[in-house]
Order: sequence, then structure tokens, then C-alpha cells
Amino acid sequence: MSETLERWGSKRAFILAVTGAAVGLGNIWRFPYVAGENGGAAFLLVYVAFVVLLGLPVMMAEIMIGRAGRRGPIQSLVTLAMEAGASPRWRWLGLFGAFTVFCILSFYSVVSGWSIEFLVASVNGSFVGASAEAIGAGFDAFLANPKLLIFNHSLFLFMTMTVVAAGISKGLERLNNLLMPLLYLLLLLLAGYAMTTSGFREALAWLFVPSFEAITPTVVLHAMGHAFFTLAVGACALMAYGAYMPDEQSLPKAAVAVAVLDISVALLAGIAIFSVVFAQGMDPADGPGLMFVTLPIAFSELPGGMFWLSIFFLLLLLATWTSAINLAEPMVATLQGLGLRRGLATTIIGLCVWLLGLLSAFSFSSLAEFRPLFGRNVFELVSTIPPDIFLPFGGLLIAVFAAWVMPRARAHGALGAGDAAFVLWLGVTRWIAIPLTFIVLLTSLLL
Ligand code: PHE
Ligand code: NA
Repeated sequence: MSETLERWGSKRAFILAVTGAAVGLGNIWRFPYVAGENGGAAFLLVYVAFVVLLGLPVMMAEIMIGRAGRRGPIQSLVTLAMEAGASPRWRWLGLFGAFTVFCILSFYSVVSGWSIEFLVASVNGSFVGASAEAIGAGFDAFLANPKLLIFNHSLFLFMTMTVVAAGISKGLERLNNLLMPLLYLLLLLLAGYAMTTSGFREALAWLFVPSFEAITPTVVLHAMGHAFFTLAVGACALMAYGAYMPDEQSLPKAAVAVAVLDISVALLAGIAIFSVVFAQGMDPADGPGLMFVTLPIAFSELPGGMFWLSIFFLLLLLATWTSAINLAEPMVATLQGLGLRRGLATTIIGLCVWLLGLLSAFSFSSLAEFRPLFGRNVFELVSTIPPDIFLPFGGLLIAVFAAWVMPRARAHGALGAGDAAFVLWLGVTRWIAIPLTFIVLLTSLLL
């Protein structure tokens, strides 16, 4: 009896740990604004399809490599490659993943800093009685103030790197797991409130009734990138989790559970946010500020709104904190693999991420018109290219490694599921996920 309980406990722990990495800004901040810029329902449809066809099989591939290798990302890749008689140059995949999370963490930390500012503002009652226009103008003024942005970015990154250096991320994860249901409840409450607003029906139509001509190559590329981003897949960041997975646990079941949780958080946030957008006559394509403007408006109309808004930002911060730790871990592991001590590795990475983050923070004021590539400023670049191109490219290589390079029996064992499930995973990965990712990436490069 106690043995069953314990096993169930560690199975659940695995799902919760991966959910902790998956659920973050991607669901509540990035999904609504990227969907808003890419046609709403058309984006949602393609994104959900990509989660099923690409995100899930590649997530399994990534965790399988860690589960079979039982080491850090790079060591697992190298060991398994040698075992299969393949080149140890597969280690570059691990390094590329580390580079990807480096770019992502730099803007992730800046935006998480916005949550710190908004947490403080809501505790101080700054939104009480404020009109929608005033809240919007307040956000713009905040973005135009690089000192505040940098302060919060520094604070958030410091919080993240301290936990990584001290190696106490397990404890924080546990806290996050304990409180995540509350975040979910708050989002349910918000969605319930959304039903009472005048924008609700329009929001539902905008999110769930796609017009097929809206599915353009750009929408497809962004939807693919977001599918990888939201599941935390494609940067070898999830590999490490495989190493701790109980032997008898079925990976497909766990991965589906994570994806369902992740999508439902995004959907609840989307329903709440777009109801406010339409009730207030705002533009869905308003950009990265969408969540930060709409949610204070929504909560300010609820009884005890400022209390719940404070709790909401606190929980959001906790969720992004665990995701950020997951972003930082593979880089630290990589430097440690080169022989650096953990504290030093964390400091070096923290400093580099902080510096790159400064460029993002200034992208809303003095560097707004500094557009080094594709006419995009630094924030626009790091918040699109790594999620939209690097993650799918890394995911593609991860899938090739797990489905073509790794010995079949090793892969089967690492999936931890029956023959039929393995054949299904192998078929989908080889003949759908890999070619589809390749084609979407190639088309976007050629167009
Ligand atoms: N999945 C996280 C989110 O949705 C972001 C993330 C991406 C975390 C890649 C780790 C690796 O917020
Ligand atoms: Na997510």
C-alpha cells in the first residue's frame, strides 16, 4: 500500500515538475498577445494542432534522451551517440539549447520584472478606481522608464540565479506545485467574470471561430514557435527531468497531462483577457502590454479586486520564477560540465543574461528605434527569433536524435509505454513531427 502511494507520489512529482517548467509567462502573457497579433482563432487552431503533432512527440523525445542517458543534457547526448556509433558532435545540440535559453531568459526576466512592478502596484492599491485609459497610460509610462525596468529585471534575475546557485529549486518547485491550483482557480474566477462582460461573446468568437484564410505562413510559424515555447520544448531544458523519472512511469501519459494543463491555463487567460479587450474596445493586436493592461481592469471590477490582483501577480511571479530557473539550469550545467564551480558558473551566466536583458529593457525607450536585424529592435528580436526559430530547430534535431539515432530498444525503454504506444510515437515523430517542423522552418526562411 505505502509502496503504491510512494510510486504514485513520485509519478505525480514528475508531472508537476514538468508543469512547473511549462506553465509561465508563455501561457498568461505571451499566448494572448501573440494570438492577438496573429488572428486569434486561426492562431489557436494551428497552435493546438502543433502541440499535438509536434510539441508532444518532441517533448517525449527530449525527456527520453535524458531518461536513457541519466545525465545532464550534453553528457546524455554524447553517451547515447557513442553507444549508437554516432558522432559525439551531437554535443553541439546541447550547446545550441544552452544558447537558446540564454536568449529567452534575457527577455523573460525583463517581463517577469513587469510582474514584480505590478505586484507592488496592486498591493499599494494603485489601480483602485483607475479608468481603463489611465491603466493603459500608466503601463506605457512604466515601459518608458528604463530605470524601473532595469531594477525589476535585476531583482528577478537575482532571485532566479540565487535559487539556482543554492540548489534549492526543488523546494521552490514544491511551493509552486502547492500554489498552482490556486492560480488555476483565480483564472477560472476571471473567466467566470469574463462571462458577465459585454465582450465575452466577441471574445469567444475571436478565439474559437477561425477564418481559414487567416492562416498565413507567418501565423503558422508563430504558432509553431509558441507550441514549443509554451511546452518548454526544444532547448534540451527538459532533458534533465527524464533522469529522475520513475522507471515504470509512462511518458506519453505524463506528457499529455502536462500539455492539457498548459493549454487550459492559456485558454482561461485568453478568454479573460479578450473579453476585457472587446468590452473596452481595445485592439487585440496591442502587443506585449495586453495582459498587463487588461487584467488590472478586469480585477478592478470584481469585489475585493485589488486583493485578488495582488494574489494573482504573486502566483504568476512564482510560476515564472520556476520557469526561469528551468531556463537557467541547462546553462549552468553546461559550464559545470566544463569544470566550473556551481557558484561561479551561475554568476557568469547571470551577468551575461543581465547584460543582454538590458538591451531588451531599453527597447521600450532609448533603444526603441535601434533595429539591428529585420527592422526589429532587440526586445522584438529576442522575443521572436529564439522561440520561433531556435526552439523548433533544436526540437527538430532532438526528434532526429531520439527517433533515428538512438538505438530502438533504448528509445522504447525510455518511453516507458507499450509496443503500440512506441510504434505510434516513432511513426508520428519520424513521419509527421520531423518533416512538418522542417517544412515550416524552411518556408519561413524562403519567404
Ligand atoms: N514554457 C515556459 C512558459 O510558457 C517558457 C520556457 C521555454 C521555459 C523554454 C523553459 C524553456 O512560460
Ligand atoms: Na507554457
